[in-house]
Amino acid sequence: MTTERNDMTTAPTAPAELRPPAEVRHADELAVLARWDAERGAELPPGWRLSPRAVRAFVVGHPELGVSRKFYGDDPLVDRAVVSLMGRQGLMLVGEPGTAKSMLSELLAAAVSGTSTLTIQGTAGTTEDHVRYSWNYALLVAEGPSERSLVPSAVHTGMREGKVVRFEEITRCAPEIQDTLVSILSEKQLMVPELGSEARVAARPGFNVIGTANLKDRGVHEMSAALKRRFSFETVAPVRDREFEIELVERQVEAELGPAGQRPPFSRDVLEVLVTVFQDLRSGTTREGAPVKRPETVMSTAEAVNVAVAASLEARYLGDGVVTAAEVARQVAGVALKGEEEDARRLRHYVDNVVRERARHDRRWKEFFAAAEPLWR
Ligand SMILES: Nc1ncnc2c1ncn2[C@@H]1O[C@H](COP(=O)(O)OP(=O)(O)O)[C@@H](O)[C@H]1O
Ligand SMILES: [Mg+2]
Repeated sequence: MTTERNDMTTAPTAPAELRPPAEVRHADELAVLARWDAERGAELPPGWRLSPRAVRAFVVGHPELGVSRKFYGDDPLVDRAVVSLMGRQGLMLVGEPGTAKSMLSELLAAAVSGTSTLTIQGTAGTTEDHVRYSWNYALLVAEGPSERSLVPSAVHTGMREGKVVRFEEITRCAPEIQDTLVSILSEKQLMVPELGSEARVAARPGFNVIGTANLKDRGVHEMSAALKRRFSFETVAPVRDREFEIELVERQVEAELGPAGQRPPFSRDVLEVLVTVFQDLRSGTTREGAPVKRPETVMSTAEAVNVAVAASLEARYLGDGVVTAAEVARQVAGVALKGEEEDARRLRHYVDNVVRERARHDRRWKEFFAAAEPLWR
């Protein structure tokens, strides 16, 4: 990513893209890890850009090399994921929404293949052509089927170049579309009968598929047994450790809004309030062990990050430049409710009981309570 500075101002130029892919955002770290591999004489699996150890370091961090942690919570899962990408099976990441399945698949693809953009986004409208290949109709009509008139899919390109392909939200696709992958993964080749009875693309080493699937979403299809056999499954769980989640939210705020000096200060105490609210409501049990009603809305870490960013923006543009628990309270209400009356009642119950009690001897919770209470008046 270019971070050119405009000499006329002290503010850094905004990046040209809102969210460049992982291999661009973390190009420096990937280069460091490639050098590390070379120095150690590390063995690379066929078709891989980095060694498995370096891929792991890219995801979970390697402080001595200056590589940041990106995925928090379950390091053994990362190890298993890396191992399954070396094998014959694909990797399927399943779990609740907002548990970083997409992020993890992006990081793994970027580290293993140097690109995370060979991606199919599964929807109800995904067709077999999206998974296999399609045609440029003007060329098809003019010169018939040829290499030139063929429009490759991400899978086609990944096979030809030996790269990792991501298949997002695979269970949103109709079962017969999902099953297109079965023959691709078992035979590691893609027939192109239009170019001749023998015409095919054979997968080069390095090719594999990372699928992701949300378990809780509406409109999901079952995966067929045949497809399941082609993947090893990993369930990604929400972050349980409070310290980890605080650190994660802090990092993400920094990634989105810049380092601490360039945005409203977000104190540890306030972050702790935010993360505690999410963990209480997510688990259905408060830190003190009291039961609370869990909202229907998924109280994921991804939503916690959204709240933190929104609270920072509110403090910066509408407040006095310091993030307090009051901004957090207002933004939690906006995120958690999503217009659901039942969830509003649950959150209000939490505020009326748990937060009110904590507010009696803690200034931060008092701020939270004072801002949350009038929201339902
Ligand atoms: N364990 C985690 N480690 C790092 N970031 C996480 C974690 N869980 C959630 N997040 C945050 O959630 C964001 C969105 O996650 P995403 O990959 O879109 O989730 P999913 O695909 O599971 O719905 C991530 O970009 C990150 O900010
Ligand atoms: Mg996702």
